[in-house]
Amino acid sequence: MRCLVTGGTGFVGRHLVRRLERPIVVGRDLEKIRNLFSEAEPYQWSLGEALDPEMLRGVDTVFHLAGESIFKGRWNEARKKQIMESRLAGTRQLVQALTSLAEPPATLICASAVGFYGSRGDEPLTESARPGSDFLARVCQGWEEEAAKAEQAGIRVVSVRIGLVLGRDGGALPLMLTPFRFGLGGRIGSGRQYMSWIHIDDLVAILLFAAANPFVRGPVNGVAPQALTNREFTAALASALGRPALFTVPGFVLRITLGEFAEVLLGSQRAVPEKISSAGYSFDFPEIRDALANLIQ
Ligand SMILES: NC(=O)c1ccc[n+]([C@@H]2O[C@H](COP(=O)([O-])OP(=O)(O)OC[C@H]3O[C@@H](n4cnc5c(N)ncnc54)[C@H](OP(=O)(O)O)[C@@H]3O)[C@@H](O)[C@H]2O)c1
Repeated sequence: MRCLVTGGTGFVGRHLVRRLERPIVVGRDLEKIRNLFSEAEPYQWSLGEALDPEMLRGVDTVFHLAGESIFKGRWNEARKKQIMESRLAGTRQLVQALTSLAEPPATLICASAVGFYGSRGDEPLTESARPGSDFLARVCQGWEEEAAKAEQAGIRVVSVRIGLVLGRDGGALPLMLTPFRFGLGGRIGSGRQYMSWIHIDDLVAILLFAAANPFVRGPVNGVAPQALTNREFTAALASALGRPALFTVPGFVLRITLGEFAEVLLGSQRAVPEKISSAGYSFDFPEIRDALANLIQ
């Protein structure tokens, strides 16, 4: 299977690319791609630019992970536009190139996020739940709609609604560990909001499972079976580190300091991986205790 990965230099992409044989890695910095992967074939592309369909020739599966980070800087209007446009225009350009080919790749696996659902309290959210209406929910809906247009060319499209990805070398976990190591860890807001998390190894395995199994299509929740409240997650983290979790960051303080981005930390998604589990995927890290024990040494 010949694979092409966009966003291969990012946290999830680096883990995925290492599992592929001689993939094409597409990114805005060729040097970075070459330094990370000696076996990969590098291609230059910035999201929103027209994309040369030549690079897609002979490719069976495209993994589209690239997108401006939601964690960088305060969310002003310019930053929100970058976050939205990198995903919508970027996916549109990719799909236009894919559908222009006489023999397009069979499969497009596109990143999305559990933010699709908005903030939904303790409601269990399977893939058939309705979308939310806040900023990230609108980004995810637009992103999935752009990806789904590839279906018109007979391409199988899977949008993986990714939860909070836990890994040693990227994502939120290393940032969360620092306050705990200094004994300053604690819950966020009421602590009642649900966090849908997933171990990086399970996420990569789900991306590969979705690529390999033609009956998987449409939206797929990329989350562990056991979503936790922030209070439960905090307790698990404190226990894994053998440190206390005495502090609380009140919601209003986050809203003042972080602006609209605070809603990412305070919002609640209790996503259920119904589709991938019924398709036969078995999780390596279904429980937070095992996931954290594996990641924290
Ligand atoms: N990590 C999570 O917890 C999580 C949760 C839900 C959804 N997701 C989604 O999953 C995808 C992968 O996540 P990640 O954690 O791996 O993200 P990441 O570490 O921020 O990596 C993002 C990737 O996108 C590339 N990129 C960003 N802006 C670009 C642009 N304008 N043109 C071309 N490439 C651009 C980056 O390239 P450079 O190396 O050049 O910067 C990098 O390869 C993202 O779309 C993210 O929104 C992630």
